[in-house]
This record gives sequence, C-alpha cells and structure tokens, in this order.
Amino acid sequence: MEMMIRGRRNRRSAAIRGLVRENILSVEDLILPVFFHDDAEDVAIASMPGCVRWSVAGLLKEVISAYEMGIRAVVLFPKIDDLQKTPDGAECANEAGLVPRVIRAIKQACPGICVITDVALDPYNSDGHDGLVVRVGNDLKILNDETVEVLCRQALCHARAGADIVAPSDMMDGRIGAIRLALDEEGFEEIGIMAYTAKYASAFYGPFRGALDSAPKEGDKKTYQMDPGNVREAIRELLMDEQEGADIVMVKPAGPYLDVIARLRDETTLPIAAYQVSGEYLMIKSACASGWLDEKAVVMESLLGIKRAGADMILTYFAKDVAKWLRESP
Ligand code: PBG
Repeated sequence: MEMMIRGRRNRRSAAIRGLVRENILSVEDLILPVFFHDDAEDVAIASMPGCVRWSVAGLLKEVISAYEMGIRAVVLFPKIDDLQKTPDGAECANEAGLVPRVIRAIKQACPGICVITDVALDPYNSDGHDGLVVRVGNDLKILNDETVEVLCRQALCHARAGADIVAPSDMMDGRIGAIRLALDEEGFEEIGIMAYTAKYASAFYGPFRGALDSAPKEGDKKTYQMDPGNVREAIRELLMDEQEGADIVMVKPAGPYLDVIARLRDETTLPIAAYQVSGEYLMIKSACASGWLDEKAVVMESLLGIKRAGADMILTYFAKDVAKWLRESP
C-alpha cells in the first residue's frame, strides 16, 4: 500500500514508544489516604478489601513504610469514637484530639512526608453531615456560615499541630477564603489549602462511609455536594476557590468525572488533584478478584487515564501498590 503517514511507526519498539509517550505516572504524583482510630487494634476494613483502619502505632509504621517506598504525601481520615460525636462537632478542634496527636506523631516519625488533613465535620458530627445541622419541620438544613466558623477552628487546630496542607472537603460556600484568612491571621501563611472544588454527591463514596461509620444518619449530601449532571457548575466553584486563595483544586470522584478534570485543566493554572474514591477502588478490587482482569495493569491504566485527563496528583488507595509496581518496572 502507498501511504505517506503510518501511525504504527511510532509504536514499533518499546524505545520509540517511550520517546513519544505523552503522560506518565510517577510515585511523586501519589497521595495515600489513611484511616485510623484511637484503639489498639489494626482492623481490616470490610468495605475496602486490602485497606486497614490503623491504631496510631500501626499508622506510624504504615506511613514510614509508604515513605520508604517513595510516597511523599498522606491524607488523614480519622474514625472518631461515637461518644465524642456531638451536634456541634466540637471535637474537631480539640487540640488534644486524635488528629492533632497523629499529625505530631507523624511529623516526628517521618518529617519528610507532607501531611494533608481533611477539614469537614462528618467524622465528628452526630448527624454524619459535613456541616452543622438544624431541623426545619421534617427537613434537615445544613447551616453554611456557622459551619465555616467551625471549619476555621478545625483547620487552625491542624495547622498548630503541624499539618502541611489542609483540605476542606465539606463544600460549604466561602470556606476557602475564611480558612485562608484564619490561617494567615495566626501566622500560618505557608500552610496550603487543597480545595475539594468539584466534589460530587456521588454513590461511589459508600465503602468510605463504611470504613469510618460516617454515613449521614438522615438525608443525603445533595444540598452541598454537586449534582453529577453538572460541569459548568464545577468551573464556577473553581473560579470561587481560585479567588479565595486555594493552592490546589480537586475533582472527586476521578474515573467517572474525567471530563470535569479536563475542563478544569483548560480553565485554571492551579495544580489539579483527583480523588480515585473508595467505590472506584472497590470496583477494581472486586473485578480483579474474579481473575478476569489483571489488577496491576488495570490500576495503572486507571491512574494514567486520570493523569491524561489533566490531573497533576492523585489520591488513591492503591498508592503503595503503585509505588511497588513502578519500582519493579518504571
Ligand atoms: C467526607 C469525605 C468523604 C470522602 C472523603 N471525605 C465522604 C463523603 O463526602 O460522604 C469520600 C472518599 C472516598 O469515598 O474514598 N468529608
């Protein structure tokens, strides 16, 4: 056949494919989410096979082992004792609470790791919502401005304990600017904010809520998390978070929202994080358990797809596996 152009010439050998490859996954792109509680036991998480809810001692070992494998960032998710949950979520800003204790311990055991904390009330709130709840007739109302005040106290508590980046995941309006001001007023102008900018009201969070027993007791999160049908709204949230001083913006979930990542990539110069959430993790794990999919290949492809869409960094429960696989065959 007579052809001037043949696409396959650039796919001929591993060497040429390496030269023309447009996107790669690196261990430096990964953020490992970790679960822990104030209990001496390390407990396997039934809803997320392969994941563990660590004791504080177990968590420190896990963080050090992740660091030794090349992972440079973790994000902390505590399971708070039911007895400490209240309608006002006050435990979230307790300087002697589980999270500040863990931040200090990690910073001491592994000073090089970037500690990112989740800022939201759902682990602390007896209602299981990310914000403060009031009842209006038969309906629940999630208070915005009152919640933002509590989130500022929570973020300050994390910063004082030594967190590097705070990550508000609650989707209240105005919280990025308010947290920025609160941090700056106390001299924490170096502490970054990773905004959960486009966090969708997704069914893919189910296994996470199982891991932390943090499902809302009543109602759903649709009055604050975004409608899965929307993408322009994500850009609107992006513009607000940029103006309010976010350092990194996030799209969550990742896999079913690659178009949202790509759209934000076109609209912002800020770094973009994507969260491959618990349901995405569970889908891959369960499908691979059938033996019909190769777990390593599928995980790597799912993450490369997220990078190709435009993410700079990825929160994934597979982070340690990926670090190991990248070492075996970079
Ligand atoms: C809550 C929070 C959730 C996740 C991270 N932070 C759950 C929710 O919004 O209900 C989900 C993460 C996952 O599913 O892996 N602030």
